[in-house]
Amino acid sequence: MDITVEYASRNSVVETSVQERVIGAPYILTPNDVPIDRAQWKDFIYNKVRDFGFIIFRDFDINDAHHFQRFLQNDLSIKTWNVFNKMKVAGPIITFVRRITDGILGAGDNRSYLNSELQQLGRIDNSVQGPHVEGGVYNKRARYLFMYCEEAPATWGETGIADLNSVYKSLSPETQVALQDAWQQFEFTSVKRLNWLERAILVAGRIKHYLRPDEHMQMVMDRIPVLCRHPDNGLLCPQIWAYRGDSVYAAASKTFPERKPLDKECMASTWRLEWKLTQHNGNPISNKFALMDELINATFENSRLVRWQPGDITIVDNIRCAHWRMNGYADQPRKIYQLQAEPFLATDCIVELPN
Ligand SMILES: [Fe+2]
Repeated sequence: MDITVEYASRNSVVETSVQERVIGAPYILTPNDVPIDRAQWKDFIYNKVRDFGFIIFRDFDINDAHHFQRFLQNDLSIKTWNVFNKMKVAGPIITFVRRITDGILGAGDNRSYLNSELQQLGRIDNSVQGPHVEGGVYNKRARYLFMYCEEAPATWGETGIADLNSVYKSLSPETQVALQDAWQQFEFTSVKRLNWLERAILVAGRIKHYLRPDEHMQMVMDRIPVLCRHPDNGLLCPQIWAYRGDSVYAAASKTFPERKPLDKECMASTWRLEWKLTQHNGNPISNKFALMDELINATFENSRLVRWQPGDITIVDNIRCAHWRMNGYADQPRKIYQLQAEPFLATDCIVELPN
């Protein structure tokens, strides 16, 4: 066998698959594509997101993260709301609280808050993050995500996005049926005994918790439907929150072979996390890990990549789409900021089962 030919063809396949995933037209909108009247931009944006699930604003004159926030809140009149700071406490305080809760969980993504709403996302490394809807362990979470790129890495460091309805349609028929009556609940166990300040933060944050016999704290998240029917278009969208580090690593290595060797996401292996999956009546779903792994694989298979340029704003429908951080180089600059907007309840989007 001529290994030169074999090698060349394999590389071209990899390169083609990567390029096809990079998001381009018609998802990218420039100043030439939007209405002249800025008062129409908010409806224009939400209509586009309704059609596509996500869009990228490119080449708009947004100078920095604070300008990005003013652009959304003042120019577009978008009502921001942050699932991780429901009480809207000041940036330095919520950053401090976030570090404390990261310590409780033994994990964290090092995001910091410039103010009560505006977050700088965590650092990049050579791991692919588990795909998730933002705040996916909570019933009340944000309907839209806005991410702004102040500095883009030269290589990789994209944001992955997957249309969860496409993901759902690609699942096996058995899994599709199982998800229609699947309810999930995440529980975290603290990695240490908590002091008074750490306990006070759980109380202030209204996180349900109780003291275990081993004196570690058990934190109980909301019981929520796995599958949501999209309120705009009725599409079925599994609300993935992929915590299984080994599965994410294996699926990412398989789907993005050009990125190998990847590292495993460190936080996924350090936190103590239990995932309960039952039918609505409480009956357990026995093959839950196989189901989650199928969901992770399908999400990566359906992925598109935001190859960031400075000034980009990516707008994501947080019901319709999952997102995650791709791998990159820790020594390359990457400054991505996030705002969230318009809370909704997942339990308002449940799938009505036939009698
Ligand atoms: Fe996220």
